[in-house]
Order: sequence, then C-alpha cells, then structure tokens
Amino acid sequence: MKKIGILTGGGDCPGLNAVIRAVVRRAIGAYNLEVLGIREGWGGLIYGYVEPLTHYSITGILPRGGTILGTSRKNPLKSQDDHQRLRDNLKRYGIDALIAVGGEDTLGVAYKLHKEGVPLVGVPKTIDNDLSGTDYTFGFDTAVSIATEAIDRLHTTAESHHRVIVVEVMGRHTGWIATVSGIAGGADCILIPEKPFKVSDVSQLIKTRHKRGKNFSIVVVAEGAKPEDTGDLIVQDEKVDEFGHVRLGGIGSVIARQIEEQTGIETRVTSLGYVQRGGTPTAYDRVLATRFGVKAVDMIIAGEFGKMSSLRGNKIVAVDLEEATSGLKKVDPELFKVAEVFFG
Ligand code: F6P
Repeated sequence: MKKIGILTGGGDCPGLNAVIRAVVRRAIGAYNLEVLGIREGWGGLIYGYVEPLTHYSITGILPRGGTILGTSRKNPLKSQDDHQRLRDNLKRYGIDALIAVGGEDTLGVAYKLHKEGVPLVGVPKTIDNDLSGTDYTFGFDTAVSIATEAIDRLHTTAESHHRVIVVEVMGRHTGWIATVSGIAGGADCILIPEKPFKVSDVSQLIKTRHKRGKNFSIVVVAEGAKPEDTGDLIVQDEKVDEFGHVRLGGIGSVIARQIEEQTGIETRVTSLGYVQRGGTPTAYDRVLATRFGVKAVDMIIAGEFGKMSSLRGNKIVAVDLEEATSGLKKVDPELFKVAEVFFG
C-alpha cells in the first residue's frame, strides 16, 4: 500500500475537513503513505481532478465548514463511459485504495465499486443522520445546534407577537434534525417524514394550547414531511439530480397558510435551509469526524475493504457498506414519543 485517494461526495456537511485532515495526518504520520485529494466527489475520478494532499494542504482546516476538496452529486455509474473513465483513472493515478466520504448516494456507489473489486472504505457523512450502520453521522450535531438556536430565537418573537411560527428544517427522508432540535428547543409540535400528518390536528393542538393561555406556538417541520391525505412531498423543483432526488422545500409555507386559516391566529414561517449545513462544526462533530478519518486509514492498512467507519455506542468500529446502504435509519419511535410528551 503506497498511495490512497480521498473524495467527499453529496451535500456538504460540517466536519468534512476534519475527516480530510485526520486521513492525511494518519496516512502520512503513521504509515508513510501518499495521499491524493480527489476534487468534486466522484466527478474528480471521471475527469482527473486529482492533487496531492500534504501537511501543508490541511493546515488550519479543522474548524472550517464545507470541504477543501469540493463536492458534487455526480453519479459515475449512470453512464458506462464515466464508469470506465473512473476505473481507468484509479489505475492512471496509482490509487491503491480509496476513501469515499458521503451519505446514502456516495456510499451506495462505493459499495457497488467495492463489489467490482475496487479496494475502498467509506466514512459516513450527512447532516440528516439517516445512514444505517452508525449511531450518528458527523454534521448532524452541528445542524441540530444551529436549528436549536434558531428555535430559541423564534420563540421570543413568537411570544412577543402571539404568533404561530412554523420552522422548516432539512430532512429529506427522515426527521432526525426536526425531532432532536424540536426537543432541545421546546417545540409545541414536530412533523416528520416518518409520520404523515393532518394539518387539522396541528391546528386543533394549537387552539387547545391557546385556550390554556399559551398564546404562541412553535411548529417544527422537516422538509420531507407529508400530509396524510395526499401523501405528496412539497418540491421546489420537479427536476431530479443524478441520484433521482427532487429539490424539496416549501412545506413550511404550505402548512403555515393552512394553520392561519384554520385557527385564525397569525402564522409566520422560517425556513432554515443551507444555514444548517454551512459554517464551523461543533466540537462533537470535529471529534467524531476525526475518529472516523483515523479509523478509515487504519481499516485500509488492515485490508478491511467494503466497510465504513462507524459509531456504535462509544466505539468506532468497521461495519459493512452493505449494511450501511441497505436502507435509511429512521427516527427512533421511542425518541419521538419523548418529543410528543411536550406537544400542545
Ligand atoms: O442530504 C442532506 C440534505 O441536507 C437534505 O436534507 C436536503 O434535501 C438536501 O441535502 C439538499 O441538498 P442540495 O440542495 O445540495 O442537493
């Protein structure tokens, strides 16, 4: 083993740079490996956007958000030409093993390439925390901290104006950010993709709350939450990306309008959007990302390919990419029951 490559794919996420730094430090410091940074996710392996990473390249990046390598939602398996170019470039650059840092899509590609015999390991990344095989992904804690701070701030303005405020957070398939920030911020109702909802139930809950003398309410909604009657996602754009995902967003405005109509209470909406993904990672995410990065290099040296570094309890372990990509990790119903104690 002489040379390894690292790429970051999918949506960016606080902590990616901490992984890159950890990989470079471990690979050079402990094993004297060369490290190649692959730019723009899988795209970099198709087009040959590859550069050496040294101690100098990673100086000062630990607290920085985003990824110094850039990222993309490029799916290299969509076209046979791209797939072949990727395989050729792995040879051309002499990459003996690859580290793919990403969520369901990036690691799904990694798993398929592993089955073709490409020596690689994965590192789990997503602010949505919906990847199976790991208790937590890095980036989630930062997103939850940002959403919680926003909910705290929205509380004081909702209270002053006696309004309902609907806070829309990210969470395409699962409601982890909504549930955890909702509990932390004291939300009066939380709507998540795992539990289709009726706006009339939300309105009723708010009316009952008002009768009890609480003349403001905070509703947290995940972007992928669906009304029970139609089951329709609210999308910003019907176009799909290379992995077949539409751009979500707008459910907050839709339900805010209906809540105002049904309750007669002034209702406003705040969509947190990309603020949840940008900027500096929390200490927790820096440490988790660093542990994942160190483990990924150790896994390569141990020949544990086709696996992903993962958090199980307090330990970082290697789990099969097959398990990690077998289905999404939904919000724990027990956790959601805790959130429900505070509804209304
Ligand atoms: O996958 C993480 C995520 O934050 C989702 O919650 C969201 O739908 C998606 O990324 C949006 O990312 P982009 O607009 O960059 O495709």
